[in-house]
Parts: sequence; C-alpha cells; structure tokens
Amino acid sequence: MDLPLTIRQILALEPTGQKVEIRGWLRTKRETKNAIFLEVNDGSCLRNIQCVLGTESPQRASWENLLPRLTTGASIIAQGNLVPSPAKGQAAEVAVESLRIIGDAPADTYPLQKKAHSMEFLREIAHLRVRTNTFGAIARVRNRMAFAIHQFFQERGFYYVHTPIITASDCEGAGAMFQVTTLDLDALAQAGKPVDYDKDFFGKKAYLTVSGQLNVETYCQALSRVYTFGPTFRAENSNTTRHLAEFWMIEPEMAFADIRDNIALATDFIQYLVAVALRDCASDLEFFDQRIQPGLLASLEKVVSSPFTHMTYTEAVRELEKAAGSFEFKPFWGCDLQSEHEKYLTEKVAGGPVVVTDYPKEIKAFYMKQNEDGRTVAAMDVLVPRFGEIIGGSEREWRLDLLEKRIDELGLSKDAYRWYLDLRRFGSTPHAGFGLGFERLLLYITGMTNIRDVIPFPRAPRLADF
Ligand code: 4AD
Ligand code: MG
Repeated sequence: MDLPLTIRQILALEPTGQKVEIRGWLRTKRETKNAIFLEVNDGSCLRNIQCVLGTESPQRASWENLLPRLTTGASIIAQGNLVPSPAKGQAAEVAVESLRIIGDAPADTYPLQKKAHSMEFLREIAHLRVRTNTFGAIARVRNRMAFAIHQFFQERGFYYVHTPIITASDCEGAGAMFQVTTLDLDALAQAGKPVDYDKDFFGKKAYLTVSGQLNVETYCQALSRVYTFGPTFRAENSNTTRHLAEFWMIEPEMAFADIRDNIALATDFIQYLVAVALRDCASDLEFFDQRIQPGLLASLEKVVSSPFTHMTYTEAVRELEKAAGSFEFKPFWGCDLQSEHEKYLTEKVAGGPVVVTDYPKEIKAFYMKQNEDGRTVAAMDVLVPRFGEIIGGSEREWRLDLLEKRIDELGLSKDAYRWYLDLRRFGSTPHAGFGLGFERLLLYITGMTNIRDVIPFPRAPRLADF
C-alpha cells in the first residue's frame, strides 16, 4: 500500500509544481489583499506547510464560504501544486486548487488558540496538548529514543525480554508498591470480614512491578546479555517534578560482568542516545534550545564528546561537606544523596554527568554486591545536571552465602526469593546491570523541567485523568 506523503516528506521534495495533497490540522490563517495563507501541520515534523489560496483564482468561489470555518484546529485536506515560495521562511508552498474541511474546531470552544498556553493549563487538556509544537516535538523525540534504545542493545547482542507487570516480589524493597486485587474490599469491610488473600485472584498478595530486574536476571543467566523496556509503577507519595507513579524503565543485565563493565555500558548508552537525538531530531531539539532550555544543544554536544566524571560516594560526600553551608539538608557519610546534592555535584563540581559508585549498603537494595570494606556496595548511579539521578544500577551479589546473609539481616524472606537464590545456587556468574528511567532521559534530552510533560498521560498522586 502506498501511503499518502506526510508534510515532512513533502517539505523534502524539490518544488516543481507537482500535484500534492495535504492532510492536517490548521494552525493559523492569515489574510492579505491578494491571498489567504494557511499554516497546516500534520505532526510528522515541527514545521507547518504553507497553503496559499489565491484570491484571483477561478476556484475562489469554491472556498469563499469555507473561510469562517478555517479556524485553528480544524482538520482539512487540500490539493494543489508544490511551488517555490517567493516569501522568506520556507522553500516551498502549496498553491491550493481545492480545499475541504473535514472536521471543524469552533473558535469559541476549541481550547488551543494561537497564543502561548502555560504548561499547567496544557496538563489539564492532555488529550489535546500533543497538537502544540512543544508536545508534538516531545512525542517525536520520545518515539525516536524508544527505537534507539532497541537499536543500541540489538547492535550489541542483547536480547529483549518481557518481564511481568504483575508480581509478588518487591525488587527494590522500598515498599512503594501498588496492590493488585480482585477482592471486593468494600464489601469485606462492610461485612466486617477479614481479608483472606488465599481467596484473591492469585491466591496471595500481588502488586504492580517496581522493576523488571529480578526477573531479567534469570534470563541473563542463560542468554548472557539481556534487557527489559517496559512500564514500572511506584506508589511513593512523591509530588515532585522528577517522579511519576507510572514510568518506563530500560534495564540491561550482563553476565560475566562487573561494575566497570556496567559503568562503560551506561556511559556508551547515554552518549549513543544523545548522539542519535542530535542527529535525527535536530529541528525538534533546536526548538527546545530556543524555547524551553537555552544552551541545551551545546550541553548535549558536550555530553557526547566528553568522558563522564567518576567519583565514589565517599569522595562525593567529601565534596559536599566542603559546601555544606549551601544545602538545606546537611550532607554526611551515610546519608542518601538529596536532589540538591546531586545538582551540586553535576553542576558545580563536574559540569556534566557524574557516575557515583560504592554507596553505603544501608541506603541501597539487598541485591547489590558487597564490597570488601564491609560498609559499601558496588552500586552505580549516573547523575546529570538539572535533576540528578538518571540511572541506578550495580554489580549483583552473586555469592549465595553473602546474599542469604544480607536477606536475613534485612528481615526479608528467603522463601520468597527462593527462585532468585537458585541463580546463585546453580551456575552463578558475576553480573551487573542498571535501570534508566525513560522519562528522566527525555527530561535530559528535551530540556523540559517537569516529568509530567514528557509522558502522554502522567500518573502521580491524585492524578490519573484521561
Ligand atoms: O534506582 P532505581 O530504583 O533502580 C532500580 O529499579 C533497579 N532495579 C534498576 C536496575 O538495576 N536494573 O530506578 C532506576 C531509574 C532511576 O535512576 C530513575 O531514572 C528512574 O528509574 N526512576 C523514576 N523515574 C520516574 N519516576 C519515578 N518515581 C522513578 N523512580 C525511579
Ligand atoms: Mg535509584
């Protein structure tokens, strides 16, 4: 099947008067003495195509009566000739011969008008905001990055694994899980009956996954190099510009690999994705650089070409202590790094991304490999300017006795993790992996400041609209 050309494809043609058909949504209409100019966008690219209705044309009668209905947001199909544009700003335009309005968008009720709208207002109309330049650009970058993620791993011999969305195990041990149940909790409460999970759908308590890591580790121990890329869910009550209750995460896992290999993979991965965005989303990124985050392009170009700064957690805390006065939360060895600390390390100390390793074991998950010092684990976070953590990962504790001991220390159930411990019981290997938050990546690449704006329909505390 030959699909009709998109505006992006038409704008790439040499204008020689050939017949073209434009299908899209009207952004603006401008009337002059000699012509009416329609700016039409179909989402295939940031740019609109200019469609010109000549007032002298013999067909004028055919669109004259349409003029009042040619309003912002109306969908139209226009046929005409692609000709060189005499005006500045575009190489080609369409000299329209026939025009149809497919769907009206009455100006008195259509919420998107020509003026700039605030991000807050656009969040309330998330079903329409993708028709704006900003959200169209985000959608295109998001699409390209999703594909680039698969390309990166496929080119390097990683297999894509689908890990479950519903799970009975808590990967991060943070307790921030959404419960999944088919029990009628209201009815039970009204009848004063206790909840019996034996009668629930799965015969036990179940949750939405916070991470595919534990499951993907099983495939890692057979396929060597694997990754997941799917939705994850966290019920943490964090009403911030960098947390979502539902977000997408990419989690690679490598067998016969240690934390050095993990750092190298994470660095290559981010540099690859930024380079693809700069190459394939150039006009969208220029838009973000001009309208959203001045200096974005220069900083992304630098990321591709410079090595990432490395420091251990202990070194990071030492840096922070030197500037202790400038923080709301006083840093000390053993504290979880706050976002103000992460901002300081990336923006003031490194001037770019920082890989922080070897965190205290108390502030990291049970599965991380314990270091010789008995106090730290082989963890690895990648922090970036503006919002901090973009990647969290580690070498895994692959020694059965040490992992069992850690599970006991933390009061977790060895029985619940029986299958996970089997990976250490049979043919264990040193292995490592990490999780990249997809929306954090998009914040980084687009320069947007609120994570709710880089996912089509954000879910956050008290927010599950659309
Ligand atoms: O650091 P986290 O919690 O690590 C894990 O889940 C590991 N199981 C990953 C692994 O080693 N396979 O989360 C990983 C990343 C964070 O660095 C952040 O980018 C993102 O996921 N993230 C969130 N993004 C949006 N909203 C939230 N609430 C997020 N929580 C984590
Ligand atoms: Mg983390």
